[in-house]
Amino acid sequence: MNTLTPPMSAQRAAELAASLDLRQLPADFLANPYPVYARLRETEPVKRLPDGSVFLTRHADLVAVYRDAQLFSSDKQVEFGPKYNRPPYDQAPWAVAPGVSPLYQHHTSSLVFNDPPLHTRVRKIIMGALTRRAIEGMAPGLIRLVDSLLDTIETQGGGDLIEDFASAIPVEIIGNLLDVPHADRVPLRGWSLAILGALEPALTPEQEALGHRSVKAFSAYLKDLVAERRRHPGDPEHDVLTRLIQGDGGEALTEVELLQNCVFLLNAGHETTTNLIGNALLCLQEWPGQRQQLMKDLRAAHSNEVREEVLALAVDEFLRFESSNQLSNRRALAACAVGGVDLPAGALITLCIGAANRDPAQYTEPEVLNLRRQDNKHLAFGFGPHQCAGLSLARLEGRIAIGRFVQRFPNFRLTAMPERGMRARFRGFLKAPFAVD
Ligand code: HEM
Repeated sequence: MNTLTPPMSAQRAAELAASLDLRQLPADFLANPYPVYARLRETEPVKRLPDGSVFLTRHADLVAVYRDAQLFSSDKQVEFGPKYNRPPYDQAPWAVAPGVSPLYQHHTSSLVFNDPPLHTRVRKIIMGALTRRAIEGMAPGLIRLVDSLLDTIETQGGGDLIEDFASAIPVEIIGNLLDVPHADRVPLRGWSLAILGALEPALTPEQEALGHRSVKAFSAYLKDLVAERRRHPGDPEHDVLTRLIQGDGGEALTEVELLQNCVFLLNAGHETTTNLIGNALLCLQEWPGQRQQLMKDLRAAHSNEVREEVLALAVDEFLRFESSNQLSNRRALAACAVGGVDLPAGALITLCIGAANRDPAQYTEPEVLNLRRQDNKHLAFGFGPHQCAGLSLARLEGRIAIGRFVQRFPNFRLTAMPERGMRARFRGFLKAPFAVD
């Protein structure tokens, strides 16, 4: 079996770092960007890109930008206008309003790409349904779901790690959160991949068209679901859709804000968590010593609490080492300095989570997977006011899915080379055939 992360020479990493352009990323970078990130951290941690934006790779610089949400805006109207409001998608019959394409409307209405007041309002509503108690309450259903997938895998003697396992979990969990009927969940993954895929720095015409089509299809589906939920409200303690419809006692969301934040929520909790589970199981293939150690630690655990602690450390290390979301973006609202470099007002900034999470200034042996790593202050969920609203849910899914998989199938093995998603922003695999004994 070839290595899943092909090595890169120091010379090639230096070349790619010097000429980095997010609009044109070669295949060897997408397969293994880490040597390029390391070179950038050492030589140009605030790298100016050919389009005039800057690319940050140091942990401390990312934290500083994430923390200061007043200076560094998440609002994407300036960037996404030229990216998405282009013919023919900003014109009938594609456009959702004259000059407004579907992807532009979606990505500029979701909380993650907004500043206060919309961000604050939507976040408060969502967080109210993701309390510690609510998340703990999801564990028994999650265990049943994971075990039923493992039963099928056992009967078949294997399957595909991504299609038959990793991707099958988040779609159900996030579908439950919005109480989407089971029979309707099949197209969600395709829509989600296409809409989030359209955030990639460079898009083919086909990817762009698919993104616009998917926003339209997803919004049309949710419009009917919202109308139905208005007629028959759910329990706002658990059902996020009912909460979003009812608002938080203040100003209600507009119809567009409501629909597009539901689309975002379904997407946000989906591909990211699929990739956490998939990347983790594939990391175990690449790091047999860590796999043995993890199995030993799980066997030695004398209580559920200890087992949970072992898994919690492991999940955070998988998140650090192969962050499923590799990039964030901000725009400087005023002239400022980042990492000692002066930036003008309006500067566009890419925060490279994948690079910050392997910064030697923050971690001992950052290029080594260490599933017992303590004090792991990774940035896989971002940081500051926009830090992932679903992080506890994602961690729960990770612990249950990865923990139950490896304990049930300690000897699982790949039967063919996995297929990478080859995306810069969302790092993960599309296929990974495997067998169990
Ligand atoms: C391993 C899984 C996940 C990863 C790696 C991840 C990563 C992230 C990151 C990096 C951000 C911050 C973006 C920024 O500041 O620019 C974010 C925001 C967000 N995530 Fe997650 N996420 C995951 C799972 C989930 C799940 C399961 C949910 C749903 C329950 C979710 C809901 C959200 C929401 C609503 C936001 C926007 C928060 C805000 O803007 O205030 N995520 N996520």
